Amino acid sequence: MKTVRLSIIGFGAVGQGVARSILSKQEYLHKHGINLCVVGIADSGGCYVDTQGIDLKNAIATKKQTGTVATGSDGVLDLINGIDHDIVVEATPTNINDGEPGLGNMLAAFESGKHVVTSNKGPLALRFSELKEAAEDNGVMFRYEATVGGAVPIFNLIHEALAGNTIIGIEGILNGTCNYILTRMAEERMPYELVLKEAQELGIAETDPTYDVEGIDSACKLVIIANSVFGDNATYHDVDVTGITKITPEALELANENNYLIKLICEATDGKLTVAPRLVPKRHPLAVGGTLNVASIQTDLAGRITISGKGAGSIETASSILSDIVFIARNS
Ligand code: HSE
Repeated sequence: MKTVRLSIIGFGAVGQGVARSILSKQEYLHKHGINLCVVGIADSGGCYVDTQGIDLKNAIATKKQTGTVATGSDGVLDLINGIDHDIVVEATPTNINDGEPGLGNMLAAFESGKHVVTSNKGPLALRFSELKEAAEDNGVMFRYEATVGGAVPIFNLIHEALAGNTIIGIEGILNGTCNYILTRMAEERMPYELVLKEAQELGIAETDPTYDVEGIDSACKLVIIANSVFGDNATYHDVDVTGITKITPEALELANENNYLIKLICEATDGKLTVAPRLVPKRHPLAVGGTLNVASIQTDLAGRITISGKGAGSIETASSILSDIVFIARNS
């Protein structure tokens, strides 16, 4: 049995989802020869370290009761640099202004020889190539399946299953909140403000929901795809972005009468990155509803491959994080 030691940095919905998945998948992981041992957890209150392995059930209960798992005054970087472990799971909230604190956490992890698995879009939408180089320079792995599409394995699909193909273009819906809002407005004729509130209650909207409705979150995800798949060196400032705030119930109604839906479509093709509302025929593969995400990948050998699934949520995002952890455990 191979023991893999990890830290979870950020213990909100995603970090706790990772802890819950590790707990519920212990038997499965043991069957595959992997023993995951969490030696540190950090949240905004501080850190909790146990080099013998943290009781995750206890940590989740403590977080619920007191709002923090912190037991000491050591900072996150002390945990990342000073405690012996293999993988840093970076799950702090996205910040698209300077990428912090995620960016500093990831760079510190690489520099101290640790692999990084992350769901944090900000650092990758701003400094992708720098992060990739830092991982390579330190001989460690950098995995970020959870940054785009929640549970949908877009990067695994492209880099592993479609290896050998040249990717010609990608289009898709990469923001569950906008898709939920547009679906509810079209199907139930509900007002924008009310459905946005519903999306927030579902826990899928960003802390600042303008990231969602103004297309910023979609733009970040598109940039991560472009950098990862096409080797671009783009930041989210390179994306031509229009959000959904100006879509009226009348526009949705008119589209509906003509058998169309309005969707916030992300597109990476011919070196151009665009996020904008578009008319999509109701029977088109991109016409997925509710909180679903979809990515349609045009390749030279395999033709078009379309993949759809849950684009947000604690356990769904943890699914992608766990798959990256297992990949590292198997390949390191
Ligand atoms: N706010 C994001 C969305 C969460 O709605 O898709 C997942 O990145």
